[in-house]
Amino acid sequence: MPKKYTLPDLPYKYEALEPYISREIMMLHHDKHHLAYVNGANAALEKLEAGRKNNWQGVDIKGIERDLSFNLAGHVLHSIFWPNMKPSGGGKPGGRLSDMIDQDFGSFDSFKSQFSNAAKTVEGSGWGLLVYDPVNDQLLTLQAEKHNLLSTQNSVPLLVLDVWEHAYYLDYKNDRGKYVDNWWNVVNWDDVEKRLTKAKS
Ligand SMILES: [Fe+2]
Repeated sequence: MPKKYTLPDLPYKYEALEPYISREIMMLHHDKHHLAYVNGANAALEKLEAGRKNNWQGVDIKGIERDLSFNLAGHVLHSIFWPNMKPSGGGKPGGRLSDMIDQDFGSFDSFKSQFSNAAKTVEGSGWGLLVYDPVNDQLLTLQAEKHNLLSTQNSVPLLVLDVWEHAYYLDYKNDRGKYVDNWWNVVNWDDVEKRLTKAKS
């Protein structure tokens, strides 16, 4: 029996990130959208289990694996996105994270500009990502289209920004740029640094 994925609780109240992200968005985003990815990943696992039992007769494994990739990546990224934010967040990182950002991007402002540009220019629905690259022991920015496309497979996401319209449209309409600029006010740098420490260990 495959293990089931479960929806994690938000680490703060729905309204905690106002005025930058509204209670209404957080409720819909967490309770409906994220839950749909959890359910989608579990449904894909059930289909694979059924396929094994039926010796893959009439089973579209290619489609199921695609569903699993999309929904599981959606679940993983949203599970990082929530604790990546906190009320009264923002400011700048400290410690080892700050040192690595300076080393790999030149300065915090250069990193912020690069990450913002990546997030603002994702084609269609997707994510801006700061990842730890274990191959070269360095930080990189990446874009994800949908949740799973443009992945480098081994990179560890440290800071993720959802730029699907469901993440901002109720508050910002089509102004993704303003959403991205405001989002820096709720970044939880302690959480990002914790992820870096874990990724490097
Ligand atoms: Fe989302």
